[in-house]
Amino acid sequence: METEFHDPDRTLARSEERSREIEAQIAADPSRFRLLTGDRPTGRLHIGHYFGSLMNRVRLQDRGIETYLIVADYQVIYDRDGVGELKDNVFNMVADYLAAGIDPERTVIFTHSAITALNQLMLPFLALVTDAELRRNPTVKDELATSNRPMSGLMLTFPVHQAADILFCKANLVPVGKDQLPHIEQARVIARRFDERYGRVDPSRPVFPAADALLSRSGTVLGLDGQKMSKSRGNTIELGMTAEQTAKLIKRAVTDSDRHITFDPANRPEVSNLVNIAAMCLDREPVDVAEEIGDGGGGGLKKLVTAAVNDHFAPHRARRSELLANPDHLWAVLRQGNERANAVAEATLAEVRQAMSMDY
Ligand code: TRP
Repeated sequence: METEFHDPDRTLARSEERSREIEAQIAADPSRFRLLTGDRPTGRLHIGHYFGSLMNRVRLQDRGIETYLIVADYQVIYDRDGVGELKDNVFNMVADYLAAGIDPERTVIFTHSAITALNQLMLPFLALVTDAELRRNPTVKDELATSNRPMSGLMLTFPVHQAADILFCKANLVPVGKDQLPHIEQARVIARRFDERYGRVDPSRPVFPAADALLSRSGTVLGLDGQKMSKSRGNTIELGMTAEQTAKLIKRAVTDSDRHITFDPANRPEVSNLVNIAAMCLDREPVDVAEEIGDGGGGGLKKLVTAAVNDHFAPHRARRSELLANPDHLWAVLRQGNERANAVAEATLAEVRQAMSMDY
């Protein structure tokens, strides 16, 4: 059966329901799970990443779940010509992971490009998918539309590569945003087809498990103009920014002319987004924060948001600077993660070769 990407609203509702079930299972027994997730190092991480994914990863790691974090460097090149600031972005990403509380003793942090056996899974996996289902993948379609260039072979097949990211370590839990749901579905289909076509080494379980998406519980943080956060729009508060840079950015943020501040995302998206950012930093309810500002207007709101963001991220920023001051340590963390990921990938590839009768 071809991978179907059903009605997105229904898929989302089902994934949200499933995420709630999984949260209950995690609370009961975290040892059943192995988690993999990661980021494309196309730029610096910002507070949207922090509240949307980093915090959640740290929480799950601290619950005792075996965690793999991929810095998806090969995903940087599917829609652009050069590698740009790749190395610097990777370096800063590792720093932000550690500063946020990812513990490299417990969590394996690694880069795509360093894991030979992971990449080799791509070939057998490519045999399990059709051109038509790859072209139907709604996230690939969106990426193609925003990239403004012809589809590269890598862009068309990156969900297959991403399946290799998930399956090389036999992860069964993938915390992601909803745009990634089609890729998790593709990974499940690949795991199932591999089982059907090549069978098992251990008769009691398939070579690859079916991974579940875990949708983050916190709401989305928008950019300072109320649009989607993106580097190119200059509307993001990067984790590495100084307090002064943050203040300057928030000063330029879009608000409206009503001096009475309310939390009303449908009608006042920009104002409500600022209220929401402050609320997340203060760990309070947005309506309470809005009420406190009252008739303080855009100025009062911005003052409060700036203080909240700068206070909340001061420890992160301090740890980040310390880490950046010792590059040898950061690169060593990544090298060790790569070594561990390589060992896991080699073991999985050996099992794949055996299942495929290619273990000569
Ligand atoms: N595509 C993901 C993103 O853009 C990053 C990523 C790469 C990923 N490999 C992954 C996420 C595997 C989850 C699992 O955010």
